Amino acid sequence: MGTNILEIHGLSMHYKIGGMLLGTKITAVDHIDLTLPGDKPQIMSIVGESGCGKTTLAKMILRLLEPSFGEVLIEGMPLSFYAKRKNKKAFLKKVQPIFQNPFSTFSSRKTVDTYLYETALNLDVAATKQEAKGIITEVLKSVGLDLANVAGKYPNQFSGGELQRISIARALIPKPRLIVADEPVAMIDASLRMNVVNLFMKLKDEYNVNFIYITHDLSTAYYVSDYIATMYRGNLIEYGKAKEILNQPAHPYTELLLESIPRVGKKWNEDMKLPDLESKEYGLHGCKFAGRCVYAKEICRSTKPGMLQLNADHQVLCFKHSGYQVAAGEANIGVNTAATGNHSDLSL
Ligand SMILES: Nc1ncnc2c1ncn2[C@@H]1O[C@H](COP(=O)(O)OP(=O)(O)OP(=O)(O)O)[C@@H](O)[C@H]1O
Ligand SMILES: [Mg+2]
Repeated sequence: MGTNILEIHGLSMHYKIGGMLLGTKITAVDHIDLTLPGDKPQIMSIVGESGCGKTTLAKMILRLLEPSFGEVLIEGMPLSFYAKRKNKKAFLKKVQPIFQNPFSTFSSRKTVDTYLYETALNLDVAATKQEAKGIITEVLKSVGLDLANVAGKYPNQFSGGELQRISIARALIPKPRLIVADEPVAMIDASLRMNVVNLFMKLKDEYNVNFIYITHDLSTAYYVSDYIATMYRGNLIEYGKAKEILNQPAHPYTELLLESIPRVGKKWNEDMKLPDLESKEYGLHGCKFAGRCVYAKEICRSTKPGMLQLNADHQVLCFKHSGYQVAAGEANIGVNTAATGNHSDLSL
């Protein structure tokens, strides 16, 4: 077994909104634990409806946000190590982002190849422009593009799909261990989404790189993933090997999500017909999904579930699988969440 590529321990993010005195806290990420093994390159998808905390989680992994509690380790190294100025470059060599909107990744006033050269030179991947050119040619080729057709052009001279492929090429330059892609296909025509997602599958072996693929687009997530993390209102509610989760979804919410992906490229927001119980869920002490769950019993409304390990490859945050009992050693999430602050939970 190699070192885990990613470990997340008790990670929480509380946003303060409103004034200092009368403001409230939003728990955008609620005490998440997660491990992505590093024995071979993996694609882990993070799925969940809008506002469930996917971007907040991604930003903490990318060091763009400081967690309120908990820690993230990349290949065994805590992110706090990279906070020192001299280690910042080392982080970008290891972890690279791809953002949702390729048109805002690149400034409209700079040619896109400028970014590629800057990345290669600034991260010490190449010592000279000539050396950088060789590397850039190679990464562009890997995403199906030719430097001769890219050089000297501005972002508006490319389609969204092409530009996203260029941002993937840029991310590959330092040969990172992990690429975090937050909704990378959301701005791309549905017909072209699979091309980008297929690229992830090809690149993971070619570059020995792991991907975190954050998406609304469940059909691509289930197609591409080795691991799937489902989030619901700040909680990780189900996590494990994609095959396990596809064949035997354990959380009622994941079951619903799976039922709602009949068509490629369709967002579940448009598909899912869930009762709007937002206001009722505000005061919940128990499972955040209980108000919507057909299996919910009293314990689900009164007690926070803890993560239950169903087998080596599959875990779920749901009482249904422990016979509606608090399993031994299971209640720690509720306990820890209570201990991490007296917040009013408005992440719902
Ligand atoms: N800077 C911020 N200040 C206050 N609240 C925030 C901030 N950023 C996000 N939130 C809130 O935190 C929660 C999680 O937001 P986040 O953007 O992480 O969700 P998401 O799953 O990425 O959603 P989407 O699918 O729409 O991108 C939401 O309730 C959101 O309104
Ligand atoms: Mg988001």
